[in-house]
Amino acid sequence: MQLSQNPSTPILKTLAKKISKLSISKLLSDSNRVIELNYEIGGITVDLSRQLLTTGVLSQLIKMANCAEINIKINELMDGIYLNKSENRPITHFNLRNTSRKNTASWLKLKAFVKKIRNNREILDVVNIGIGGSHLGSKTVESALKYYCDGPNIHFASSVDPSSMSDILNNCQPKNTIFIINSKSFKTTEVLNNARLVWQWLKKNNQEEKEFIYAVTASKAAATTWGVSEDNIFDFDEGVGGRFSVWSPSGLPLMLAIGVKNFQNFVDGGFIVDDHFRSEDLIRNVPIIMSLLRVWNRNFLNYASHAIIPYEYGLRNFPRYVQQLEMESNGKGVDLDGNILSMPASPLIWGEVGTDAQHSFFQFLHQGKDIVPVDILVPKLPARFDADSKYVEGHKILVANALGQAEALAFGKENLTEPHRNFPGNRPSSLISWNKSNPYNMGSLIALYENITISSGLIWGINSFDQWGVELGKKITKGLLDESQSNSMRLRLERFLS
Ligand code: F6P
Repeated sequence: MQLSQNPSTPILKTLAKKISKLSISKLLSDSNRVIELNYEIGGITVDLSRQLLTTGVLSQLIKMANCAEINIKINELMDGIYLNKSENRPITHFNLRNTSRKNTASWLKLKAFVKKIRNNREILDVVNIGIGGSHLGSKTVESALKYYCDGPNIHFASSVDPSSMSDILNNCQPKNTIFIINSKSFKTTEVLNNARLVWQWLKKNNQEEKEFIYAVTASKAAATTWGVSEDNIFDFDEGVGGRFSVWSPSGLPLMLAIGVKNFQNFVDGGFIVDDHFRSEDLIRNVPIIMSLLRVWNRNFLNYASHAIIPYEYGLRNFPRYVQQLEMESNGKGVDLDGNILSMPASPLIWGEVGTDAQHSFFQFLHQGKDIVPVDILVPKLPARFDADSKYVEGHKILVANALGQAEALAFGKENLTEPHRNFPGNRPSSLISWNKSNPYNMGSLIALYENITISSGLIWGINSFDQWGVELGKKITKGLLDESQSNSMRLRLERFLS
């Protein structure tokens, strides 16, 4: 059932008309509502009280989730019954956060390899060659957990622009560097081009390529054919989607950076969110409530985009991670049965680290005609330094900015005599916080956003696990580069380059 067919939709459309006469500042004066719209999940606190949302609307949204049989579908997903229909695959990434994983051969192989490499003083650098889900998860969490990175330096090569890889190779020594070709399909053009550059670089430096190149993939045969030694391949199953794969062997660069114990804590933080997602009552179920808020803001208040603003330097990659997660999952135009959606799904996801964002697009957020709901994410303590360090003062300024912006967006400031200085306010935000950015809390944060994405897709009635929309561009590009084709397509490229 797509959103337009949900029995709650007409009621919510009526409620949306009524609520637009209310204000967030007025809603914030109701202390009971503020308490009710504050939640905990794992080590994460979520404050939704600055959203244009009443408890009445929330209860109708919960009814909508019930009509969409959300609990049944979550159980089916986690039990491998719910299929990614267009690719005819189960969804298996939840198993990666299950404690039962610790006894699998795959986990034991990963553990042994990570310990071996981290104990090898000769290996100073690791280069991850991946893109999209084979790159963003590890890169985002590795930068968020920099304080826990006590292994080899990790470099992330994703762009097919050769300057990206050459910049990395210029800072690495052939005999002190290993390379991970991180590709679920093992056929992504950017990845294979970068892998070829590395192979040539090792050859030129008289290194035995096979000794320094590893692969993480669901396509073991393709990796072997390409030239990776069988023992150097860490494989995972097709049911793990790229954007849900940081927990899988695809997270190997992260595991090498922070070590097995910290990676296990990261996974444990994710597991606690899954347990909550599956068993918590709808009214207190944080991923479901936040997904309903995505739908309420997008489809009923007609806010077409949604901003992600982390107030921690270490989380500077988080907005781009969420961009792929939500827009590649839910940027769809048809429902599970192939019918065209009559109401849109995913909002446009964008963002930047705070306070930098305050010096780029916060003008738009405060005074622009378009209202944009904002996720403001901020840890209560700095990740790196103990409470008595001189850095606490700087972190307090960061937190004050996060809270100050949430308040300014909500309350605004009327100025009728100088319209250019008028702040309309009534701009919704969610305040997401945790004690400090350790592996466990980062695992909870990543799993929270994964499950918000999955829950939203269930409400919209779409397939959040395929990504056919990326295929046409790839196909045309292949045609442009195919020298055996003398058709107009190639000529366009030649003309452009002439
Ligand atoms: O963007 C399309 C996509 O298939 C993503 O879903 C995926 O994470 C990325 O490309 C990389 O794919 P692979 O891991 O197969 O190289």
